[in-house]
Amino acid sequence: MGRGRAKQAAAHRGVVVGPRLLLGSQRTPADANFMSRHHCSHALCVARELPWPVQGAHREGVRYHRIPLDEPMGDTAAIEGLSRAIEWGFAAHEAGGIVLVFCKRGQSRSASVVAGILMRLLQVEAAAALALLRTAQPSARPDQALRSALDRLQVEPGGRSASLEPALEASDVSPVPKGYVAIGKTVGELSALPTGLRVSIGGDRSIAIFLHCRQLYAIDADCPHQGAGLELGEIEDVPSAGPCVSCPRHGWCFELATGYCEDILDYAVRVYNVLRLPDDRLCVSVTPRAHG
Ligand code: FES
Repeated sequence: MGRGRAKQAAAHRGVVVGPRLLLGSQRTPADANFMSRHHCSHALCVARELPWPVQGAHREGVRYHRIPLDEPMGDTAAIEGLSRAIEWGFAAHEAGGIVLVFCKRGQSRSASVVAGILMRLLQVEAAAALALLRTAQPSARPDQALRSALDRLQVEPGGRSASLEPALEASDVSPVPKGYVAIGKTVGELSALPTGLRVSIGGDRSIAIFLHCRQLYAIDADCPHQGAGLELGEIEDVPSAGPCVSCPRHGWCFELATGYCEDILDYAVRVYNVLRLPDDRLCVSVTPRAHG
């Protein structure tokens, strides 16, 4: 391959921008190697002109979404479209997803969205987010309207507070085993909570994760009686049943290891496998364990 074509191919390759955040071109979602190596769980297309669904792209376990941005864009459309795309990508990332954003070349529209997600994750301004992005993809170059839209977007409080270092250490992120999803929290963060942790793992499913006596447990977060959040329940060790969580609303008790309800057997909750990765992140199985 000549130097010109090699350079062009590199510019269009998917890249890891930060932990669980990927940037790509129209070729990336169909790149089975890249998608499975990085355990991509969410793919956001921001190109109106690409065929939809993207040919060869739809893979099991990946949630695809499209928020088309035109090129070039007017200022108002740029702000509106960019905000929606950033919001979707940020929410997917916060839910523990591994998020790919792609457009035709992976240089302007998708790069702007990824920069916006970085702004929210790291609480930095547009210039810092773009500088960080270019360490992974030097050809990233938002067009004029998108660049000024990024400048006008506020860095919203409430995103994860972090230095730039974790994002630069993308290669240190432990791979998530097949069938599991990373939830974007660490065991350290869980142990600092007075209650369990409620996380959404896609669709309308939420899981409550507990750390009790150095043991991790994961069960359905919604009480099967009237839907109270079990993550807020108290845990006690019940002889012959092991650790149980009591529902904060009416007190029904559920075994953390099996999900069985101590009060009414028919109301068991589902139990999930939960792992601590070498980098301390938590991940849970996408499907529940079969009841024994
Ligand atoms: S809502 Fe949980 S026991 Fe009633």
